[in-house]
Amino acid sequence: MTHPRITIVGAGNVGATCALFSAQRDLGEVVLVDVLDGLAAGKALDLAEAAPLLGTSHPITGTTDYAATAGSQLAIVTAGLARKPGMSRDDLLARNAEIVSSVVKELVARSPEIILVIVSNPVDAMTSLAHRASGLPPERVVGMAGVLDSARMRAFIAMEAGVSPKDVQAYVLGGHGDSMVPLVGHSNIGGVPLSERLPADRLEKIVERTRNGGAEIVALLKTGSAFVAPAAAAVDMAQAILRDEGRVLPCAAYCDAEYGVGGTFVGVPARLGAGGVTEVLEFDLSDAERAAFDASARHVRGLVRQLEAMGY
Ligand code: LAC
Repeated sequence: MTHPRITIVGAGNVGATCALFSAQRDLGEVVLVDVLDGLAAGKALDLAEAAPLLGTSHPITGTTDYAATAGSQLAIVTAGLARKPGMSRDDLLARNAEIVSSVVKELVARSPEIILVIVSNPVDAMTSLAHRASGLPPERVVGMAGVLDSARMRAFIAMEAGVSPKDVQAYVLGGHGDSMVPLVGHSNIGGVPLSERLPADRLEKIVERTRNGGAEIVALLKTGSAFVAPAAAAVDMAQAILRDEGRVLPCAAYCDAEYGVGGTFVGVPARLGAGGVTEVLEFDLSDAERAAFDASARHVRGLVRQLEAMGY
């Protein structure tokens, strides 16, 4: 095979948009899988017909059959239910656990060297479950959360400050949920600390809006959750791995001694390259950040314990 094969599981809004961005970036052959007959095939055919316009040279196919995924280098797993208004990501735990567990087993059976990028929610717990269910080494399993949350924070800062989002750096660590930890002190506009450009009350609102970023969109859409920014985030991670870019992105990566987490997946700065997570970067958090991070990691461990009690 001369080009990588990328499987995307789930042909809903997030999965189909991941397929679109993967094709636009010409990352490799895309295999879209969904349990619903015709959904993946239809969306993939639509994309394949756009290929001459998108500039991708690689096949894009859709199927219900995992046989087509054999030999994949990487999979983006988006399968599962999305939130409805009033639901938290944690409300999806039991239903999505069943789906993610069976999906990753199907994938690994046909692609033993695969790297999994997990998107299904609650993502930190689903990444833990995917690790356990797949039997893959932890560095080959990573969850998409921090890239999305950080992008949202960058976008909100840019809107508030009237600058290009490209020149805003912002970092969100911890679990992808209400306990996420936006690091205001480590974020900046063109290198200038946020506190020098925005008043404290505006910063507080940005932090709150970031924490609530997913729910804000769920409340507006009413029938589903965000998909463009989540897909862009997942494909950034996939590209970093497939092209061995060595990017350092906030992701749900396995931490044991790192940050004193004690053996679970949670959002931390991770170097992504060939082989998956090649390093977790540690740095000193302030006392307040540390306390918020620890609380978030505790919350994630609680979800993982619930999964274990369910037999996962
Ligand atoms: C969100 C979903 C992907 O934050 O969790 O929009």
